[in-house]
Amino acid sequence: MLSMLMQARDDDGIGMSDEQLRDEVMTISCRYETTANALSWTFYLLARHPEAEEKLADELGRVLEGNAPAFHHFPHLHFTQSVIKESMRLYPPVWWISREPKEDVWLDDYFLPAGCDIALSQWVMHRRPEYFTEPASFIPDRWNRKFEESLPSYVYFPFGAGPRICIGNNFAMMEAVLLLAAIMQQFHFDLDISSSVVIEPSITLRPEQGIYVVINKR
Ligand code: HEM
Repeated sequence: MLSMLMQARDDDGIGMSDEQLRDEVMTISCRYETTANALSWTFYLLARHPEAEEKLADELGRVLEGNAPAFHHFPHLHFTQSVIKESMRLYPPVWWISREPKEDVWLDDYFLPAGCDIALSQWVMHRRPEYFTEPASFIPDRWNRKFEESLPSYVYFPFGAGPRICIGNNFAMMEAVLLLAAIMQQFHFDLDISSSVVIEPSITLRPEQGIYVVINKR
């Protein structure tokens, strides 16, 4: 990645300064934390829902047939994708974003003066009972085509929305699904009951002390 960035040239044939390169590398490396957080919460949820883990293991057996997961498997890993979507619903790695209107604006009955801070929270929207039945429950099977088409825009937005939507959106989904498949194909996680899991709502939604598990080979 760094080599590609160092070789990149703009329309005038000019490369990036050391400072720009550093900024780009920092941006990309920090973004990996979101995918790592998504996977951590997914392992936590699967350890607490053996029936979902069993269904996942079953799909991995059928689709992968013992092979390492690769890009061409991605569209066939329906339940694995649903697990990641449901995990990011309950524990959105980016749990709120902010916006600042450039000019005064009315949104229905709400007046938003130019320059005010607006917080839009994935955590809040993803748990609204009018859109998600049993909002606090981990139900990967809710993610079928009919449900997704019925969901109003901007209700589920783990990657943000609009012109500033995450540019790593599709890459992150693929990365998370294939990593989950590769790990769960070989290992089973049990939560270490001697440690507790505490949510740390920092810039990203982290487990404060990590998530301790006992790893067993399948
Ligand atoms: C599960 C993983 C990820 C989640 C949940 C996530 C979430 C988000 C969200 C919510 C935003 C919008 C922020 C806003 O509107 O203020 C965003 C922006 C962005 N993301 Fe991601 N992201 C993920 C992975 C990645 C990856 C892997 C990359 C790069 C390789 C990436 C690169 C970016 C960049 C560059 C922006 C800024 C886009 C812009 O402002 O035009 N993200 N991400």
